Amino acid sequence: MTATDLERVQDYHRASKHHPERYAPGPGGLDWANQPDPFRVFAGAPAIDLPLAADTHRVLFDHMRAGERPAAAPVDRAHLGVLLELALGLSAWKSAGDTRWALRCNPSSGNLHPTECYLITDPRPDLAGGVWHYVSRDHRLEQRARDAQAQPPAPPTAPLVLALTSIHWREAWKYGLRAYRYCQLDLGHALAALAYAAAVLGWRIGVLPWGDQDLARLLGLDRRDDFDPGHEEAPDLALWVGPREPDAAQLARLTRIERHFSGRANRLSQDYRDWPGIATVAAAGERPAAPSPGPAADPHLPSLLANHCVLPAADLIRQRRSAQDFDGLSPLPTQRWFAMLDALLPRPGVPPLDAWAGRPRVHLALFVHRVADIPPGLYLLVRDGAALPALRTGLRRDWRWNPVSGAPAHLPLYALALGETQVAARQLACHQEIAADSAFAVGMLADFDAALAAGPWHYRELFWECGLLGQVLYLEAEAAGVRGTGIGCFFDDAMHRLLGIADTRWQSLYHFTVGTPVDDPRLHTQAPYTHREPRDPGLHPSG
Ligand SMILES: Cc1cc2nc3c(=O)[nH]c(=O)nc-3n(C[C@H](O)[C@H](O)[C@H](O)COP(=O)(O)O)c2cc1C
Repeated sequence: MTATDLERVQDYHRASKHHPERYAPGPGGLDWANQPDPFRVFAGAPAIDLPLAADTHRVLFDHMRAGERPAAAPVDRAHLGVLLELALGLSAWKSAGDTRWALRCNPSSGNLHPTECYLITDPRPDLAGGVWHYVSRDHRLEQRARDAQAQPPAPPTAPLVLALTSIHWREAWKYGLRAYRYCQLDLGHALAALAYAAAVLGWRIGVLPWGDQDLARLLGLDRRDDFDPGHEEAPDLALWVGPREPDAAQLARLTRIERHFSGRANRLSQDYRDWPGIATVAAAGERPAAPSPGPAADPHLPSLLANHCVLPAADLIRQRRSAQDFDGLSPLPTQRWFAMLDALLPRPGVPPLDAWAGRPRVHLALFVHRVADIPPGLYLLVRDGAALPALRTGLRRDWRWNPVSGAPAHLPLYALALGETQVAARQLACHQEIAADSAFAVGMLADFDAALAAGPWHYRELFWECGLLGQVLYLEAEAAGVRGTGIGCFFDDAMHRLLGIADTRWQSLYHFTVGTPVDDPRLHTQAPYTHREPRDPGLHPSG
């Protein structure tokens, strides 16, 4: 009997778990000579530079996070440049000794950046119709395919399509089998980064009901000769972006574009190691062309609690960093904590969670170490009230489930058990100090069995939802004057045991930590695009 796709996904999930006595299968050491290039280029494709113009957009983060958008900017090359600069562009170069690496507005496990981004557009006055690939290193678009038919230019308010893909090998080089999970988490972060950046321009983004196969064909990912084996990209997600949703006629036109492809994908490393378990789960988790279930943001929630951050969103987005160390001392003010947690509840029209339709399927277990006026202990934020009965029966029966005194009435926050949580948080996070020295650490808990029963591809979507929440925490932490760090390394079933979970109904898929950072004085910082030479705005050969 052959395994079903659902069983294959379940098998992968089981096999890619870390345990205190046994980590998930990995490469067994880092082969530095074969570290994959974090930047994809299509050699031979014509390319155009995008202007660096994010500084001209001064909408305050505090307004944006509450859903207040400025008047919509025209959807043209300059503003698409701002979108990509703020979502996926470089935010700095770092160096220590002889080593130099780029950081981006979107975070990534191991800074390996598996996520690639494309635009599919009809012609604009300053952008030809077709498929464009974004190169964050140079803030440039490569014309991967041009539209062979002469179409009339789109009006400035017409949205276009953004597509996200993953290069699994980039993560597998370091993380082995577990890498597929990290690719999905990174994708969720990128999705949220795009939703925030779109809001700076007065735009929205939304998920399109396109399946993986359609996306692969449209982007040319299925053109085998254009990629070295193992260095391919997997299709993930198509989104519309702009002031309004595309109409059916525009979408039909974009999917029918007669595309003439150019360029060949760069080889990312000399050698490549195959991880068959990743190929298997990727095939089993293929998304069909069916829409995800409808919207479920709660229209009755009161306005988001204020954060009182006076920084423009563009500045905050580019200053986002992962903390590598926390001071282990400073308490987080209570109201800041409540505001951060409140931002994790979906509200209609509020970025970035408005980009993701469907009821929340991920809730947060919180290890509270240092939040003013909140006794240390284990807490739970239930992001969808309808999930409360299942959580109460799925977790340890003797948890207390006490509402948190002083918390706003609409915040579904419960104390499960009081007491010191630093040791548990550190041990569960593969012994990482950042989980214990922070103000609080998080374990994201997904409604696993129910989601997968609706289709094995929901496995990926659960990680995307976790990544979205992670990106909210990153920016909310910056706005509160503290800092966050994603935690992909944790002991899955040890976490489940702590919560009293004996089956797979609830599974922890991502961890996170927020606190007062301690900077490493050995690191030097340089501005992101000083290496870009000024060129005229026309087409240039890529490379
Ligand atoms: C999905 C994910 C998992 C991560 N896991 C860890 C982790 O376990 N430990 C850690 O120290 N940092 C972790 N990070 C932080 C990354 O190392 C960091 O994002 C990357 O080095 C880029 O730095 P930046 O976030 O400052 O741009 C993770 C980030 C993401 C997005």
